[in-house]
Amino acid sequence: MTVKKVRKAVIPAAGMGTRFLPATKAIPKEMLPILDIPTLQYIVEEAYKSGITDILIIIGRDKESIVDHFDYSIELENHLEKQGKLEELAEMRAIAEKVNIFYVRQKEAKGLGHAVLCAESFVGDEPFVVLLGDDVIEAEKPATKQLIEKYYEYENTVVALINVDDTDVSKYGIITGDEVEKGVFKINDMVEKPSLEEAPSRQAVIGRYVISPKIFEVLKNTPPGKGNEIQLTDALLGLTKEESVYGYEFSGDRYDIGNKMGFVHANIEFGLRDPEIKNELKEYLKGLDLDKF
Ligand code: G1P
Repeated sequence: MTVKKVRKAVIPAAGMGTRFLPATKAIPKEMLPILDIPTLQYIVEEAYKSGITDILIIIGRDKESIVDHFDYSIELENHLEKQGKLEELAEMRAIAEKVNIFYVRQKEAKGLGHAVLCAESFVGDEPFVVLLGDDVIEAEKPATKQLIEKYYEYENTVVALINVDDTDVSKYGIITGDEVEKGVFKINDMVEKPSLEEAPSRQAVIGRYVISPKIFEVLKNTPPGKGNEIQLTDALLGLTKEESVYGYEFSGDRYDIGNKMGFVHANIEFGLRDPEIKNELKEYLKGLDLDKF
């Protein structure tokens, strides 16, 4: 069997963003920037750098600004051109030209599994990537690319793993598996957001998945689970009964920007990587009078 190329990605972006109210009252949380780049753009760029050519963004209501962001903006481009800001102009064009972006509305908020199910006809019979916008990953080789390489090696579903502290297990899908090579685990159990007592390990799934199209069949038969939502974690566990599913400890710095602290971390560290402001920011941080706060 020759394994099919991974060229499609699905980005669920239909969440309500309640953890970031009031900022997300009128702006989708995916458009909140780290420095000057909307978080969703980092995700789209990671997919692009990993060889993805077609992206489906699953949007909710009032998410037109997402569609606008990845479109040409004639007014803005004319303005930049008049000001001679050709570099910025090229950057704006590049976003819109890099990949084919499609949109579908998730009509009801019935969970991540349900959102992925909305991608069925876009994905068809091909392996595909799911990227979650709350996880921004800075890595030499994009995390998605690392996962896709493992997918080609094992010819089966691969999810991204990290190790978490006891206090965090209830925020993630937690797995157990047998280590088949360093950092690669063949998964035999998965639980969505378990309590500390229920958690089978400290190995958590984070928001990067390369998934076999077989998942759609499984998803259709997956009843609502945690929070009365259709959970991708439950469907992936179902998939392990039919095909192998692997977890991979990718390398890279991952920021959980779905909470305030992670969002602040990301902004500081991306600032410290930004050639334009890094030196100034370092000086500022060094000189900070922490007792003032
Ligand atoms: C989702 C998944 C969970 C996974 C997490 C990674 O949860 O349901 O299994 O561990 O993403 O970030 P969410 O954070 O969207 O509630």
